[in-house]
Amino acid sequence: MRHNFIDIEDFSAHELSELAVRAEFLKNTDLSSPIFMENKNKILALIFLENSTRTRISFEIAAKKLGLTVIGFDSEKSSLEKGESIKDTVLTLKALGVNAIVLRASSASSINQVAKWIQIPVINAGNAMRSHPTQAIGDFITIREAIKDRKFVDAGIASPDEFSKLKIGIVGDIIHSRVARSLGELFEKFGASTYLIGPRELLPRYDIGFPVKMITDDFGDCIQDLDIIIALRIQLERLREPFLVNPINYRDRYGITKSLMADAKPTALVMHPGPQVRDLEIDSDIVDSDCSLILKQVENSIYARMAVLSTALNIDIEGVMRK
Ligand code: CP
Repeated sequence: MRHNFIDIEDFSAHELSELAVRAEFLKNTDLSSPIFMENKNKILALIFLENSTRTRISFEIAAKKLGLTVIGFDSEKSSLEKGESIKDTVLTLKALGVNAIVLRASSASSINQVAKWIQIPVINAGNAMRSHPTQAIGDFITIREAIKDRKFVDAGIASPDEFSKLKIGIVGDIIHSRVARSLGELFEKFGASTYLIGPRELLPRYDIGFPVKMITDDFGDCIQDLDIIIALRIQLERLREPFLVNPINYRDRYGITKSLMADAKPTALVMHPGPQVRDLEIDSDIVDSDCSLILKQVENSIYARMAVLSTALNIDIEGVMRK
């Protein structure tokens, strides 16, 4: 498999399934195995040029579970602030012996550029509004796990091989969401149907790059059909014009509330990539209820990132699998 991990669309369904299986194995394996202790000489740099809580910390935990040496990079205290370019920054890190870079960038082209400048693995930790592929892999594992836990049996889905039967709604600020793009690309690979729901000003008016079963500003058009509802944060920091929708109206029309869930399938589950704004995008009692997979998404992101890092750095997980 390729060593850079930049976009879901670069990978086949087979390769993505292999990553999921690897992540699931890592979740269920004893990480004290000697193989994980032999990786100290492999150095991973985490460069976050936009804010992050869960992605940065889960990458750090994933790397430490693999036994890697992790270098944090505080961009505000770095020589980027003195005018050094991102190109010179990554070339410097490579010259210092860094073996792979995890990068969150605020410009969609940066990560591909960095991958061209340095011949070490580059892993996308969120690329402006373009893509967030490790979030998508973690969410894929979470959905597969829910299927295995028989959460969708009453909806006629009993095995992860039946992923294509799923009807998945993504709700909210679609146009600014890198998560929506990566999830849509992943759902396309596995044949699931994607529905996009939100205020018109936050819905794409162009080809978003993956097939969409329905785009609507009226949740009532599809709520009864959905197996999974994925709420998104309104990315106020990316809006070019002031957001004109009143928060109370937004919650009433697009928030994941008890009243909305009363119209959903009894088996419907709710996800959110985070960070979430409670009682706007999703009500607190839904976040904390049994239909919420949100904390499972966070937990599984560690194993997704372990799978991606171990692939990028040629760590012999299959060797552990064979033992
Ligand atoms: N889901 C996600 O990317 O969250 P953070 O911005 O906290 O990393």
